[in-house]
Amino acid sequence: MANVIQLPTLAAPAELCTQRLNLRTWRDADRDAFAALNADPQVMEFFASTLSRSASDASIDAWQLQFAQRGWSNWAVEIKATGQFIGFVGLSVPVRVLPFTPCVEVGWRLARSAWGQGYATEGAREALRFGFVTLGLAEIVSFTAVVNARSRAVMERIGMSRDAHEDFEHPAVPPGSPLRRHCLYRLSQRQWKEDGGQRPPNPDNDQASV
Ligand SMILES: CC(C)(COP(=O)(O)OP(=O)(O)OC[C@H]1O[C@@H](n2cnc3c(N)ncnc32)[C@H](O)[C@@H]1OP(=O)(O)O)[C@@H](O)C(=O)NCCC(=O)NCCS
Repeated sequence: MANVIQLPTLAAPAELCTQRLNLRTWRDADRDAFAALNADPQVMEFFASTLSRSASDASIDAWQLQFAQRGWSNWAVEIKATGQFIGFVGLSVPVRVLPFTPCVEVGWRLARSAWGQGYATEGAREALRFGFVTLGLAEIVSFTAVVNARSRAVMERIGMSRDAHEDFEHPAVPPGSPLRRHCLYRLSQRQWKEDGGQRPPNPDNDQASV
C-alpha cells in the first residue's frame, strides 16, 4: 500500500444494520456495559491489560469524535431483537506506525455472552461492505496476536488472507510476551468483489453520502 491513504468523509455519521444487528453510533447508555466488557479478563486476554472505566470511556469519546468528523469509526453493536448492546465492530485508522501503515483496519470486541453466535462475523462483513462500497477503500486490513485464534477465525471467515512473511513484533508489547508476535490479514476491494462480497446493499444502510 502507498504511504498516503485517502480517508473519505461522509456528510453524516453512518449507521448500518444486518439481519440480526444494528451497528450504530454511541450513546452514553452504552458506557456501563462497554466498561464491563473491557474489565473482563477473558475478553481482554490478548491485550496487555483490562481497561479502566476512564480508558473505556476514552475509547467511546474518540469514536464519537470520529463519527462527528468523518462519519465512520467503530460502531456500537446491538442485537436488533432485544436492543441489547454487545460491543463494537468497525473501521479504524491505526495511529501507531507499523510496517503496513497507513491503512484502514476492521476490528471487533464483544461481551463474552455474545460470543459463539456469529455476531462478530456478521457485523464485520457489513463493515467490509461499507468500507469497500460506501467509502471506496482499496484495501482493509486486520491484525492481532498470533495466539488470538478466535479473532483470526473471524478474519478468515470474512475472507481475509494472511501472509506469514508479514507477521511482525508489536512494538507496544514487551519482548518475550506471547502476545508480541502479531499476524496481519489483508483483503483488497478487488479480491472482495471476486469472492462475491458485493451483495445488494441493504436499503436501510448507506444513507449518508461521501
Ligand atoms: C474475537 C471475537 C469477537 C470472536 O467472537 P466469536 O464468537 O468467536 O466470533 P463470531 O461472533 O463470528 O461467532 C462465530 C462462532 O459462532 C458460531 N455460530 C453460532 N450461530 C451462528 C450463526 N447464526 N451464524 C454464524 N455463526 C454462528 C460459529 O459456529 C462460531 O463458533 P465457533 O467459535 O465454535 O467456531 C471475540 O472472541 C472477542 O470479542 N474477543 C475479545 C476481543 C478481541 O480479541 N478482539 C480482537 C482483537 S484484534
